[in-house]
Amino acid sequence: MHRNKKAVAGAVKINMELKGKTIVLGVTGGIAAYWAAEIIGVLRDREASVHVLMTENATHFITPLTLQTLSKNKVITNMFEVPADLDVGHITYTQKADLILVAPATANFIGKVANGIADDMLTTTIMATKSPVFIVPAMNENMWKNNIVQKNVATLRREGYKTINPSYGKMACGGEGEGTFADIEKILKEIEEFGLFKTKNI
Ligand SMILES: Cc1cc2nc3c(=O)[nH]c(=O)nc-3n(C[C@H](O)[C@H](O)[C@H](O)COP(=O)(O)O)c2cc1C
Repeated sequence: MHRNKKAVAGAVKINMELKGKTIVLGVTGGIAAYWAAEIIGVLRDREASVHVLMTENATHFITPLTLQTLSKNKVITNMFEVPADLDVGHITYTQKADLILVAPATANFIGKVANGIADDMLTTTIMATKSPVFIVPAMNENMWKNNIVQKNVATLRREGYKTINPSYGKMACGGEGEGTFADIEKILKEIEEFGLFKTKNI
């Protein structure tokens, strides 16, 4: 079954009010990292302020410059090279986020968070935050169905992180399977249904 992920930016139908909200977008090193660019477009269209934290490995898949240009904010990839105006580093992000959305989330990232590892800006921010965190896993079907990954996802859920199930679809490595990046509209609808943000009455 193929899904249409092309319904992005202006075509996404959500009713939540994002104007003036601060959203930290975490991007990890999976093939679906390019969808981060579309997510930024959708959030910026709705006048949210978007701050991107990328893992070093994510920069192999999409450049910080691209996400910085689209988000209009400095992209942080290295915890030890934060700009001077972000003098408290990860603490700044942990305090100002109305929402932390990690999309896409690798098996590696999920494993780290589930096991208390905080060895980069993104995982450290998540460890330190009290903001709601939504995680959107995307990976090859075998990785997704791996018992260790499933146990880590269950741990995240138990600890209060919201995880959005991946979809069944075409995999980058060939064939079809479960594990592919969820539709952007589905991701945003799940966040909307969670009730973090006011919705417009239409
Ligand atoms: C071409 C390529 C595509 C990859 N795609 C994925 C993916 O979709 N999901 C995933 O979990 N890992 C994927 N990986 C493996 C991750 O890049 C690897 O586990 C890495 O350590 C993740 O680092 P990070 O979690 O710090 O970003 C891919 C690797 C390569 C080389």
